[in-house]
Amino acid sequence: MKARERMLAKLEPIGQQHLLQFWDELDGSQRTRLCDDIAAVDFDLIARLAGGQSHGEDWAELAARATPPRALRLADVNPVIDRVEARKRGAAALAAGQVGVILVAGGQGTRLGFPHPKGMFPVGPVSSATLFQILIESIVATRRKYGAAVPLYLMTSPATDAETREYLAAVDRFGLTESELHVFCQGTMPAVDAATGRVLLSDRDQLFRAPDGHGGLIEALERARLIDDMHARGLKHIYYMQVDNPLVRVCDPTFIGSHLLAESELSTQVLAKQSPLDRVGNVVTVDGHMRIIEYSDLPDEAAERRTADGSLELWAGNCAVHVLEVAFLDRVVTKRDAVLPYHVAHKRVPYIDESGELVEPAEPNAYKFERFVFDLLPEAERPLAVEIDVAEEFAPVKNPPGSDMYTPEASQQQMIALHRDWLRSVGVDVPDHLPVEISPLAALEALDLAGRDFSGLDLSGPVYVKK
Ligand code: UTP
Repeated sequence: MKARERMLAKLEPIGQQHLLQFWDELDGSQRTRLCDDIAAVDFDLIARLAGGQSHGEDWAELAARATPPRALRLADVNPVIDRVEARKRGAAALAAGQVGVILVAGGQGTRLGFPHPKGMFPVGPVSSATLFQILIESIVATRRKYGAAVPLYLMTSPATDAETREYLAAVDRFGLTESELHVFCQGTMPAVDAATGRVLLSDRDQLFRAPDGHGGLIEALERARLIDDMHARGLKHIYYMQVDNPLVRVCDPTFIGSHLLAESELSTQVLAKQSPLDRVGNVVTVDGHMRIIEYSDLPDEAAERRTADGSLELWAGNCAVHVLEVAFLDRVVTKRDAVLPYHVAHKRVPYIDESGELVEPAEPNAYKFERFVFDLLPEAERPLAVEIDVAEEFAPVKNPPGSDMYTPEASQQQMIALHRDWLRSVGVDVPDHLPVEISPLAALEALDLAGRDFSGLDLSGPVYVKK
């Protein structure tokens, strides 16, 4: 049987034969490419997902039973974990070389609209350092501070892989050695037309494919044999972060140590919501399991619930920063299909129509499918939520300049304010209006500035404390 007939026999019974409609115009290599693309798709799964059999969660019922998570809160008088002890435990794990980092950077960053991988976005308010620079220099500084390697596992996607690799090679990985950095690529999922269920083409010889969500991490780690690599290096704990928050306190010893003292398999940073309908995922406990209910799924009446003292009952917002055990990865990797469902999102997806024209829809036209890493939470034993101070640790870049929240300018203002406080804490009289920025190579936290001599610091213009 010729390739076309073989493909047709597969596609016709499932109503996807339109994928071959430009076959006669394609040359040999284009046909091979199209066949490879089609062979990689699990059409049964796509049909099930698009058919709606898998989005059956009853959020109202779930939210009615939700309670706040077990948490270490900033204002706790009798905290569940002793912070001083936690810091010591975290520092010891770092010094013993037991901690690695996962950075997920495979997203397309569609909201920001930056024409490169988001990690290359210049966010430093004075230095224009990129997100990658700030995050990776934080790892280099952590290695130096604790005297042990902190390997970085950096996840890309086909949308970001080549450019990320080229960029990191050109900047000598910001000081990480070759063996301390593993770049690995996540998988993709096709998208289907919401009205017809047809898989969309992005070109005449190519299916539209988008990264399969940060939850694609587990499969991608397994494919690249990186959990084995973690074991081979003696890593026990993994600090997980996203690429968009330049204030994230990479490998914060108190967070790592709190996780260890709680004997948690997976811990997560949370922020106190300011108002019930804040657009963050809600970290809650249901039936003894920690989980996240997305803000769009949480009914208003559950979001508005108050405790006796008038504060929000479901107060904890997800910061997407975790610490997890390598042993937990071992446990979940084999059952990832059961614990990481695909979420269906109604999105705008450009596609090639029947006449071969590129269509850029103005409204959502397609279903995309993504896995979310936080779906691992209910699997974890003894999970712990650790509250952070938003002003000090959370300023993600999500939206383009001028948007209402999570913009580059808001992130930069927050960095300046924080670093100004750090300098003032060691006696530098920084004027209010002066932009200041401190490189992670100079300090990972205010304490690292103690004892340094800043008497010669030039405050006549923007200040960048570089090392
Ligand atoms: P977001 O959910 O903010 O998505 O990702 P995004 O792709 O960066 O931006 P939008 O929604 O298109 O505007 C949160 C983190 O998860 C990573 C992103 O790179 C970011 O660090 N991510 C997201 C992946 O690694 N893979 C994915 O498939 C999706």
